[in-house]
Amino acid sequence: MSTMTINGQSRPLPDDADALLVDVIRDQLALTGTKLVCGSGVCGACTVLFDGAPVASCLLPANAARGKSLTTVEAIGSARLNPVQKGFMALDALQCGFCTPGFIVAATAFHDRWRAEKGTATPSRDEIAAALSGHLCRCGAYENIFRAVAEACAGRFDGDNVGAPRLEARDKVTGAARYTVDIRHDGQLEGVILRAQVPHARITSLDLAPARAMAGVAAAISLIGDDNIVRFVGAPIAAVAARDRRTARAAIAAIKFNSENLPAVIGLDTARRPDAPVVFDRRNRKFAGNVSEGGGAPVAWKGNVRGPSAAFSQKGKRARAWLAEARASGDRLLVEDTFRVGTQAHACLEPHAAVAKFEGDQLTVHVSTQAVHDLTEKIAKRFRLAPDKVRVIADHVGGGFGSKGSFGMETIAAIELARAAKAPVKVAFDREEELSVTGYRPAAELKMALLPTAQGGLKALSLTAYADTGVATNSTIAGLARLIYPAEAKELVDFDVISNLPPGAPFRGPGGPPMAFALEQAVDEAALRLEVDPIALRKRWDPDPYRQRLYSWAENLELWRNRTKPQSGRYRRGVGVATGYWLYLWQPGSSVELAIKAGRIVASTAVQDIGTGTRSVIAGTIARAFDLEPGEIEVQIGDSRLPEGPGSGGSRVTASIVPPTLAAIEQLKVRIAQSAAQPAQSGSNAPWRDLIAASPDLVVLAERGKDNKPAPGITSPFKQVGLMGTIFGWVLRYFNNIVVGAGMPSSVQVMEVEVDTLLGHVRVVSAHTGLAIGKLAVPALARSQAAGAIIQGIGYALYEARETDPQTGHVLSGSMEDYRIPGIADMPLLHVHFDETGFDHVPGGSVGIGEVATVPTSPAIANAVRNAIGVRMTEIPLRPDRVVAAVKGRAAA
Ligand code: FES
Ligand code: FES
Repeated sequence: MSTMTINGQSRPLPDDADALLVDVIRDQLALTGTKLVCGSGVCGACTVLFDGAPVASCLLPANAARGKSLTTVEAIGSARLNPVQKGFMALDALQCGFCTPGFIVAATAFHDRWRAEKGTATPSRDEIAAALSGHLCRCGAYENIFRAVAEACAGRFDGDNVGAPRLEARDKVTGAARYTVDIRHDGQLEGVILRAQVPHARITSLDLAPARAMAGVAAAISLIGDDNIVRFVGAPIAAVAARDRRTARAAIAAIKFNSENLPAVIGLDTARRPDAPVVFDRRNRKFAGNVSEGGGAPVAWKGNVRGPSAAFSQKGKRARAWLAEARASGDRLLVEDTFRVGTQAHACLEPHAAVAKFEGDQLTVHVSTQAVHDLTEKIAKRFRLAPDKVRVIADHVGGGFGSKGSFGMETIAAIELARAAKAPVKVAFDREEELSVTGYRPAAELKMALLPTAQGGLKALSLTAYADTGVATNSTIAGLARLIYPAEAKELVDFDVISNLPPGAPFRGPGGPPMAFALEQAVDEAALRLEVDPIALRKRWDPDPYRQRLYSWAENLELWRNRTKPQSGRYRRGVGVATGYWLYLWQPGSSVELAIKAGRIVASTAVQDIGTGTRSVIAGTIARAFDLEPGEIEVQIGDSRLPEGPGSGGSRVTASIVPPTLAAIEQLKVRIAQSAAQPAQSGSNAPWRDLIAASPDLVVLAERGKDNKPAPGITSPFKQVGLMGTIFGWVLRYFNNIVVGAGMPSSVQVMEVEVDTLLGHVRVVSAHTGLAIGKLAVPALARSQAAGAIIQGIGYALYEARETDPQTGHVLSGSMEDYRIPGIADMPLLHVHFDETGFDHVPGGSVGIGEVATVPTSPAIANAVRNAIGVRMTEIPLRPDRVVAAVKGRAAA
């Protein structure tokens, strides 16, 4: 038997010549710190040291390790943390943490080599980027990774003391954090889903017997919907649970089914044709997915087009008439164009995954989810179980960005299979499934018209959006233009265009980035025509008090004041600005329990942390109140047995959990004081540590209450929309359990780009982001969120596009080689400005940041490109061929 040495111990290698090293490390040796993401050597998550050199273990057969010495993340820092690990912890160079072990292994190797050769010299940004260019982080922690590696190499973290703003940072830098894909019960089976390979068909028969008859197969189930129709390539047909993934794959290949192909239609342009085959007939529209976070109002359908939805229009007919007049008269102030945005995949590094286990009538499901509490209720309802018989656990979640908020097929299949197999079952999507069927931000066509008055006011605005939603509905893009830049009249119309493609899903600020891409470029163009500074024009047109302050900050940036007109030459620099907003949302019912257990404060709530730092927000809030360190607080989350917590969507977690935490703190203080032999000194926090240590065990619980009265001028944004706004707010409140609060989280971004006009490459050189999101619960984590939102916006603007075959409906960008997300070298120099005023009516004063920080990035980049080359780019991603064509004044291929 051949062996390898791993983390100092000799371990046998399997005889199987096809076994991959990553699988042996994770599955046989249970060293789950090493992650499997792309499986193709692109992302670096599976990196281990192979005789001291970093290698991608997903590319190596296990036999290649014979006689070699391997080191995984678990052995790095096991005796004493490496300075790189301490740097990652101290500077918050991680968010969800799923990429972190791979980064740590590679960065440690770089650090150790650097220190041996160069002592405590500081490596440059380029040197670090070159060393880590084989690693991807979807949360966008790159800015702090640069700092952590540079400062570790410079010796800053050689000492023993290390603090960390993120409570679970140590678990994430040592590989100890366990995600759903890392769960392994005794006797656990692997579930794999059989998926449709045609875009539209009726399944007429399904024979699972051949799969069930295979050795090692424990269960096979049907996943066909009630109407027996599959409507996209990748739609689930059946699933199998087997002793391992290879057996399960062989079993799904053995399943026999007959189907009758139906006419299919792929994509926006073909689906809109009057003679296009219809994807959903009237009876079956209920099977369509949802691309938004809230429910939608009933809207008419015509063929594959659902719409118009125009509830947020204001004097729409008048807007149309004024714009037609301006068009007819050749008004040179009329800005009119059609913008297009591509489809952006969430591309979470941890795939959608669930592990289901029945013990008697008790069901426990580990799920990579954004909604622990909500999902528990949905599982109980679907499987007709009492809610107290269902437990959902999500200790750590490797990213979500909106795609993990619903009751996904991975969870349904895992539960069904576990029930049928009478054994625990894991279903974890592979990368192709992840990049094709788990949702996306829909592509869209945006027809924009904007008419200033001769005096420089804003007279009329029209935006019509056609969203390429696949087999889903309920996009709101144009409607979002109602809540910014008041005009005399606005016509805002949304259409969903349904076709035989996988369903879209909510994605970080659903509808916001495409709306801003069109609107913010139109405002920029209007400023050019009015010969007004673009920030000054926004300041004139946008009375929102939060954004007024941000405009004042932005117009004083040196970068903005020194910007030039379009240049000549191969490399041209430009500076652009754009604005974004999001809604301040919170979830009623959100509750936090505080307990004193054995002299320590324990906080509990059934919320989850998808990389946003929820534990740290709760711990920081409590620590401040009791004059403790956040690390002294134990925070329990990610378990549906805890008190009800909010979902992680719409940037609502902080605003939902800080207020009940504060209320629980007040209760706890009273209870501690009542039970203390010595009362606390009034006005002083000094005695709390002693009082807590001496306190008997106590428990208090508080629920999110209403906000205080906002300051004059701060209102609910829906008030601007009159009756329709009231109705929309009511629907959100009573059907989606979400409240829209007063005030608007806002963002103004100034971007500097460099355009290579010969090759068409656009590089974002520096990014200034101003954010008005109230008080920062944990400043370092807020900055990390801002950085992550910007790099995701850069991906949206420059690289990311799902490609599909227009004939067959197959997703062609189903691997990370074909779907490009930003890497560390794409991270610009980042400057973040926080305006912390304006949310005093919110207990704690904090609202969310995740969505608002990404909304203006793509138009700010496009406006910067316009400033650099003098040509307006109307379509993203800004592919090199599009940029070259724009420079040369011709259409892209
Ligand atoms: S999983 Fe090996 S490089 Fe991505
Ligand atoms: S922290 Fe890197 S993928 Fe989430």
